[in-house]
Amino acid sequence: MDTSPSSFTVRVEPLGRSFDAPDSLTILEAAGFANLRLPRSCRNGTCRTCLCKMVSGEVKYTIEWPGLTREEKAEGLILPCVAIAQADLVLDVPDAVEI
Ligand code: FES
Repeated sequence: MDTSPSSFTVRVEPLGRSFDAPDSLTILEAAGFANLRLPRSCRNGTCRTCLCKMVSGEVKYTIEWPGLTREEKAEGLILPCVAIAQADLVLDVPDAVEI
């Protein structure tokens, strides 16, 4: 069986729920596969509905200019709809719900 080259664990607080995030999926998609609904709307990195705080970890983006300012990035804010985990992550998403 094919094993994914890299997959990381994302933990969503305050739910305390974890899921696997392979590098073939955005964090939002990976959460969906794990029956976890994160706030979202456009899914293309412009509306900022999904904006959340990355407590620890590292992401890369599927688009060149996600709608985040340099300051927001420095604060650890990310857009999960266009972000791919590059390390194990801890995210603070108060509005995340199990589905
Ligand atoms: S859902 Fe619109 S920026 Fe992420």
